[in-house]
Amino acid sequence: MRLEQSFIDFMLHHQEKHKRSYKFLVLLEAIQTAAKYIQYFYQTGSLKNVMGETGITNVQGESVMEMDDIANAIVLHYLRRSNQVIYAVTEEEADPVILNEEGGRYFLYFDPLDGSSNIKHHLPVGFMFAVAKRNLEGPEDGRLRRGAELRAAGIFLIPTGVFTLALADTGVYRFHQDETMTYVIPDNSEQLMIPENPKGWELSFNAANRRTFSAGVQEWIEEHESLYAFRYMGSLAGDFHRLLSNGGMFMYPAIVNHPQPEKNRPQGKLRLLYEANVAAFIAREAGGIAVDEEGNDILEIEPASLHQRTALYVGSPPLVESIRNRLREKN
Ligand code: AHG
Ligand code: MN
Ligand code: MN
Repeated sequence: MRLEQSFIDFMLHHQEKHKRSYKFLVLLEAIQTAAKYIQYFYQTGSLKNVMGETGITNVQGESVMEMDDIANAIVLHYLRRSNQVIYAVTEEEADPVILNEEGGRYFLYFDPLDGSSNIKHHLPVGFMFAVAKRNLEGPEDGRLRRGAELRAAGIFLIPTGVFTLALADTGVYRFHQDETMTYVIPDNSEQLMIPENPKGWELSFNAANRRTFSAGVQEWIEEHESLYAFRYMGSLAGDFHRLLSNGGMFMYPAIVNHPQPEKNRPQGKLRLLYEANVAAFIAREAGGIAVDEEGNDILEIEPASLHQRTALYVGSPPLVESIRNRLREKN
């Protein structure tokens, strides 16, 4: 009989080894409990009739699905119960949600359900989160953190039951749910690194948008597309999960040449704090890089607002560097 190491056991050892507090463990326990509940609702959603739209438009101007709301409420509930979070920034709420202003130690940025267009098909979605820590030395001003300051970031693939976690200066690990829904790490699993061998690399972007990208990006695609396979699931959580295993590049470029100019998105579509930074931070810990439309490192962007958007190019360094050069030449 083979019994694997549980996620909490893995984290306990990690915290002890690095002489870190138990508080982070309490936080992660809350996060993974929330992920399991989201998964349960997702799997049984059609029976409960919660896979449709609420009819409400959120702060992003996007239609809110019932599952978006449910997932958001679940995550906030467990974060509040943990007592470890000062405030959380969620895709679903305009303002930061204050949870434990006095006693909290962390800031949470999260997208409770990423890839909403997959919901009605029961296809993979994700719960993405990033963790920053309060300033323990001087006074804390509650400012939004750059990606480079994050302590951890992770993605739960739902309903697949795979959890990818990146810990600052430590690496990326992948956990799988066992028969009891416990997240475990297989004994033989190693720290995850984006493969260096270009043989399996893939490109991932919304091909329907390609004529709306800048001339430089369109040229780059024409020069490179025949070299790689192409995959797009329509959920960053799922597409990025695949990229981490196979290598290549995921991109959501700025939309600047839309035939209906009001549909241009010069700032890109993805949200910096709880989408792009999550992918960029995990990529960094797995040996990859991520840049925006100007070729700047995503992790160095100083956040100006909670829901700001950014273009995103993330993945294997040679590909991201090559498009970074093109972006800088043309911009
Ligand atoms: P969300 O469902 O949280 O609003 O995010 C959707 C995002 C992201 O998951 C995905 O990569 C992208 O939108 C897909 O956009 P397109 O449908 O424009 O390709
Ligand atoms: Mn999202
Ligand atoms: Mn979402």
